[in-house]
Amino acid sequence: MSVTDIKKGLAGVVVDSTAISKVNPETNSLLYRGYPVQELAATQPFEAVAHLLWHGELPTDEQLAALRAVERAHRALAPEVKAVIDLLPLDVHPMDEVRTALSALGAADLAGIGSVLDASGTPGENLQRSIRLFAALPAIVAYGQRRRRGQEPVAPRDDLDYAANFLWVTFGVEPDAVVVDAFNRSMILYAEHSFNASTFTARVIASTLSDLHSAVVGAVGALKGPLHGGANEAVLHIFDEIGDAGNVVPWLDEALAHKRKIMGFGHRVYKHGDSRVPTMKAALDTLVAHYDRPDVLALYDALADEFVARKGIHPNLDYPSGPAYSLIGFDTLTFTPLFVAARVTGWTAHIMEQLSRNALIRPLSEYDGPEERHVGD
Ligand code: COA
Repeated sequence: MSVTDIKKGLAGVVVDSTAISKVNPETNSLLYRGYPVQELAATQPFEAVAHLLWHGELPTDEQLAALRAVERAHRALAPEVKAVIDLLPLDVHPMDEVRTALSALGAADLAGIGSVLDASGTPGENLQRSIRLFAALPAIVAYGQRRRRGQEPVAPRDDLDYAANFLWVTFGVEPDAVVVDAFNRSMILYAEHSFNASTFTARVIASTLSDLHSAVVGAVGALKGPLHGGANEAVLHIFDEIGDAGNVVPWLDEALAHKRKIMGFGHRVYKHGDSRVPTMKAALDTLVAHYDRPDVLALYDALADEFVARKGIHPNLDYPSGPAYSLIGFDTLTFTPLFVAARVTGWTAHIMEQLSRNALIRPLSEYDGPEERHVGD
């Protein structure tokens, strides 16, 4: 192997097949199990999309009701998880909080399972673990934001669907239907995206026959980085820096002169635009109208128009989702944990797929350190 054979960052390397989602950069399309993501976002509750990702088909009414019953039964913030979160300083990054909470959940879930091999779980056990993680995450994410605001947790409501309950446990007020709809769409758009860095991390961990929670915890670590999930948070920091649409041009001059990466733009796979952006932008538009915040849209458009005109690099999903989450009332630091709550469905679907056709993932490397030498030479 020569250095020229190395595919830095695995760019362009196909490492396995998957039946879960298909990204087509030529047509800017994203399919979950064959369905265009924008159709799912416009028509389905997030629970139905979770079922689709796990099982390969949209649920029947009975299957959806059964999933909802289990999800609602596991929504409450477990006392042992709350206790672990409460041990952390208030100024930890919420992604560290979520990662720690999921690790504690995993340890509790696997208590009494003596053998590491048994911990990898049967397909049935891993599906139940996936549903429990999916159900538990809203309360964990919501509590993180609430405790930073000096507020107590809010008990979940089992008369509300997943998206409405998520907003309820975060804010403690009944959410408007238009806000629930925008939030539900964002969860569906974030749910799955083939072999992205965090999903690949989860698959690598699963490929060692480690347990599902460990694979999810590793994925959270990968998602935290600003080149991946951390970008939606970084978009709001940029908006805060710019302040007003009128400041975009001088701000961008300065940023590009310093070779800064503009967060929320660019994508490893999509080079002509991210398939999810039009749907999320439409959701942002409804939120801007609902909250009467045309200033947000003016800044959004001004930066997008100027950056695309100068660099030809298009917005990715994090660009519209950051301001949308901000309008709903989420703290900027909570944005990437919201991504976790959505993507846990895709991660767990991939973990189960990996285990169903497993091969240990173990690439090679080209050594470029010193030639062999000996102590005392
Ligand atoms: N701002 C400024 N320049 C950017 C850019 C951005 N957001 N995204 C890409 N570029 C430039 C690079 O600087 C590079 O320029 P060069 O050839 O002059 O060095 C060129 O475009 C190619 O970018 P590269 O980083 O090699 O592409 P990639 O496929 O490795 O990276 C990302 C993809 C997502 C890592 C990259 O676009 C990025 O850092 N975006 C910002 C973070 C973000 O929004 N992440 C969320 C992804 S969903």
